[in-house]
Amino acid sequence: MTSTEVLFRPFRIGSMELANRIVMAPMTRSFAPTGIPGPAHAAYYRRRAEGGAGLILSEGTVIDRPASRNDPGIPFFYGEQPLAGWKGVIEAVHKAGGRMGPQLWHTGGVKSFLTDWVPDVEVESPSALDAPGLARGKAMNDADIAETIAAFAKAAADAKRLGFDTIELHGAHGYLIDQFFWSGTNLRSDRYGGATIRERSRFAAELVAAVRASVGPGFPIILRISQWKPQDYGARIAETPDLMADWLQPLVDVGVDVLHCSQRRFWEPEFPEIDGVEGLTSPAGPKN
Ligand SMILES: Cc1cc2nc3c(=O)[nH]c(=O)nc-3n(C[C@H](O)[C@H](O)[C@H](O)COP(=O)(O)O)c2cc1C
Repeated sequence: MTSTEVLFRPFRIGSMELANRIVMAPMTRSFAPTGIPGPAHAAYYRRRAEGGAGLILSEGTVIDRPASRNDPGIPFFYGEQPLAGWKGVIEAVHKAGGRMGPQLWHTGGVKSFLTDWVPDVEVESPSALDAPGLARGKAMNDADIAETIAAFAKAAADAKRLGFDTIELHGAHGYLIDQFFWSGTNLRSDRYGGATIRERSRFAAELVAAVRASVGPGFPIILRISQWKPQDYGARIAETPDLMADWLQPLVDVGVDVLHCSQRRFWEPEFPEIDGVEGLTSPAGPKN
């Protein structure tokens, strides 16, 4: 069977059945200045379903925390009106035969590179940093952490209740969850920090466990991860496959079904010494 034939075969994971293996990547659009997705959002995603994408992941959409977004155009995934808007989106996608999950997000201490807008409350992150050595906002205390985990779990439960087929947790690209993973932005000395990736994964593990409890068994949970960060394209959370297992296995154990790897330089193997293949050359690809 050719790879193209495989691409067009159906795929099932838990309660979600896909017509093919083509997945539309989550892409921030900044078209929801009031935080409410409207008919234009429904039409945008419906067109992708009509075009044949097996699974659509929404643009990043933020959970119910003060300062969870760093750009005023990012839609909310909480509150009556935004959730009614998202219900319109999933109904339109389903009508066109598509499947969809929202990408649930908290931008942490990261300033947007697209806008100078700032939220009217202090931003929060593991260690009051945007990037290593770049102070911004406040460090989260235990109550902030517990409320953030609860807000992710609530958003996931709402997604299921509205009829979405899956959810994706944005654990990549240097945002809140990734700021806990990354030693450069997690300098905590409590149970959410530490010298090892296992220790720095604790926040995500508690978060995934809470999400799993809120959606029940069978409902697919996707976690987006990345070694690279916009703050540092060369960053690596795991230098070896063993460290990658320390990072990710605990998350799979508590409920992640799919690891959505954002690789950036997709033509280069993560561990060439093990994969035993030369990276493909891509002269047209990004230089960073
Ligand atoms: C305009 C734009 C917005 C993006 N927004 C998000 C986002 O909200 N969440 C996310 O995880 N990735 C986001 N990305 C990254 C994409 O999901 C995707 O990883 C990237 O375009 C590279 O494609 P590839 O992963 O297929 O190589 C965005 C990319 C673009 C071009």
